[in-house]
Amino acid sequence: MKVLHVVGARPNFMKVAPVLNALRTQKHVTQTLVHTGQHYDANMSDVFFEQLGIPAPDVNLAVGSGSHARQTAEIMMRLEPVVLDGKPDIVLVYGDVNSTVAAALVCAKLGVRVGHVEAGLRSFDRTMPEEINRLVTDRLADVLFTPSEDGDINLQREGIPAEKVFRVGNVMIDSLVKLLPVAQRQIRNELPERYALVTLHRPANVDDSAALKSILQSLLDVSRDLVVVFPTHPRTRQRIAEFGLELKLKTDQLRLLDPLPYVDFLGLQSRARVVITDSGGIQEETTYLGVPCLTLRENTERPITVSLGTNVLVGRDPKKLRAELALVLAGKQKKGTIPPLWDGHAGERIAHVLAG
Ligand code: UD1
Repeated sequence: MKVLHVVGARPNFMKVAPVLNALRTQKHVTQTLVHTGQHYDANMSDVFFEQLGIPAPDVNLAVGSGSHARQTAEIMMRLEPVVLDGKPDIVLVYGDVNSTVAAALVCAKLGVRVGHVEAGLRSFDRTMPEEINRLVTDRLADVLFTPSEDGDINLQREGIPAEKVFRVGNVMIDSLVKLLPVAQRQIRNELPERYALVTLHRPANVDDSAALKSILQSLLDVSRDLVVVFPTHPRTRQRIAEFGLELKLKTDQLRLLDPLPYVDFLGLQSRARVVITDSGGIQEETTYLGVPCLTLRENTERPITVSLGTNVLVGRDPKKLRAELALVLAGKQKKGTIPPLWDGHAGERIAHVLAG
């Protein structure tokens, strides 16, 4: 059986690694890895391949940045001949980025089977580009691998036949489980024992100058209580420069870093007093680690991190952020549990469904 994986952006890499590994043990499976090049900076891509032990891609489409339409269209145009050439039995796509939906569209039109890893998640907010990507990809997929029960329920509500859906657990947590021991051995001496870890890149938070200013002001407020470590996504770094906000941010208590490699970031997360983020995956990782997570969004496509985990949605209300942070600092944070099947074996379950 020929399996072709398509990945493109940072959060895809920790999801493909365990599936690649698990399928490697199946003798009759051959695998091809395509990188669309949606993320291309060494610290957004190459370093993840190295740390996660992902082989160099067989094909790099090198599409780079662009508007959503342009990026999606470029991926489609460049991927189509690769799929026609390779004649895979199934193409696996991951998560909810532009590379995911572009590959699903190409394959659906060529009549090639599509498997969607991390299917069924819904924020019910169509202003998020990722929500459009999730809806379209799930509609087109032939096999849908969900991380949690809410995914199955959403797909059922949308009329996706149950026989296409397999609840396998969370592949991102597979990578975490594997590399956490390594991450915990990394000590960053320059950091105090108590710090907040921040990530920020959602268009709704960073592309609007008033919204970004207000969040940065809140972070400056937070940094009066504890050091804030803020590895900055390239998009956010660009906006901070564009809006002329750099000078304000240069303090010892608020530390802007370049994006960090996976293992380094995981180590920082595991020791953080609190994580403040608008990322999807980090809501899940903090839930697994039992670290309090304050999410700067009004909604989440990962509600299980709120119902079972340590995640609290604080939206963009600085008062709510301050109130929740005060609870954390007083040791009164929300306690969570690890959702079922977030156990390090999701990749194996996917391999079993595909090859079994
Ligand atoms: C994408 C995903 C988002 C995911 C995020 C993780 C979509 C719609 N969004 O958002 O779901 O959470 O990746 O990072 O696919 N850039 C660089 N170097 C890079 C990559 C990007 O400088 O290696 C800059 C470019 O200026 C680019 C901007 O960041 O225009 C945004 O990149 P893009 O991949 O379009 O979206 P993300 O915001 O990263």
